[in-house]
Amino acid sequence: MDGATAVEAVDGDTEFWADGGSLRSALREVPPRIPPHFGYDDLGSQLFEEITELPNYYLTRVEDRLLRRHADEIADAVGTPWVAELGSGSGKKTRALLAACAARRDTTYLPIDVSREMLVSSGDALATEHPEVAVRGLWGRYEAGLGWIRRERTAPVTAMLLGSTLGNGTAVERRALLAEVAGTLAPGDRFLVSADLVKPADVLERCYNDPPGHSAFARFRLNHLTHLNRRFDGDFALEHFRPEAHYTERIQAVEGHLHATAEHVAHLRALGVSMVFRPGDVINVGISAKFDPGGLAEEVRELGLVPGRSWVDEHWRYGIFLFHRR
Ligand SMILES: C[S@@+](CC[C@H](N)C(=O)[O-])C[C@H]1O[C@@H](n2cnc3c(N)ncnc32)[C@H](O)[C@@H]1O
Repeated sequence: MDGATAVEAVDGDTEFWADGGSLRSALREVPPRIPPHFGYDDLGSQLFEEITELPNYYLTRVEDRLLRRHADEIADAVGTPWVAELGSGSGKKTRALLAACAARRDTTYLPIDVSREMLVSSGDALATEHPEVAVRGLWGRYEAGLGWIRRERTAPVTAMLLGSTLGNGTAVERRALLAEVAGTLAPGDRFLVSADLVKPADVLERCYNDPPGHSAFARFRLNHLTHLNRRFDGDFALEHFRPEAHYTERIQAVEGHLHATAEHVAHLRALGVSMVFRPGDVINVGISAKFDPGGLAEEVRELGLVPGRSWVDEHWRYGIFLFHRR
């Protein structure tokens, strides 16, 4: 996968994939959980792109429309020469905004992602469409990318977290990530974050389950097990799990589950992990928290960032929120 985009390993080369520490402790939770970044090996990243095309998965389409419609206003409000995107993925939605930024000032885009393949392909596509934007890919986990920015920065920076990715973890993980972002930003820097807003359970469950004739969500969820089997000498039997998502009101989040359908034992030999499953047991393979704008502003404000402009769609489904570091 040799593209033209410069990609720097910021998280110990491939080593971070072998870091079983966070995985081992998440598997000990009740129910056991697989941390989100294990969903994004090369195949997982491609499957996520398929998910974004599903007819009921409105998030990407609504966010894309907001970013295109308000690209100039957002670019004016952002105002920094460096734009770092955490969990950039295909970066398709970000291009209109980056073009608007580059029309106003020299702009360097720093996508941060665990998927090296996505960093290269999205960087190459951006270079073709918008050669005026300089690109420097940072390959690794969010914390490592932010650490690189703290060490190497030479200009004011906006940290962006799009795709409602802020919701892809437990409340504790979310606070830790927000604290890491806030701790990286200096006075004059910005934080641009998008969020899927709270809505009725039936709408969310239609959005996060495959409609008839589609299987992208099912394959994405089961691929977590394939990835762990490959990475940690495991023997999870995919045929013993049924993927499904449901909305839990108490935590305002959709949870992606793998339901065990048979009694069996699974191992990850490289981690010394054995897990006993009975029918009905679940593994959590993805949290997608939903937000109300006031609650989100409060969470971010507690970390010393000041709310600025926001852009919400006409049906109040999805919002993009800007915060300032003073
Ligand atoms: C939900 S997708 C969103 C992708 C894109 N921002 C969008 O809106 O379509 C999450 C992205 O974050 C990346 N990712 C997940 N966990 C990560 C982590 N801990 N560190 C860096 N990247 C991560 C995945 O590889 C994936 O590209």
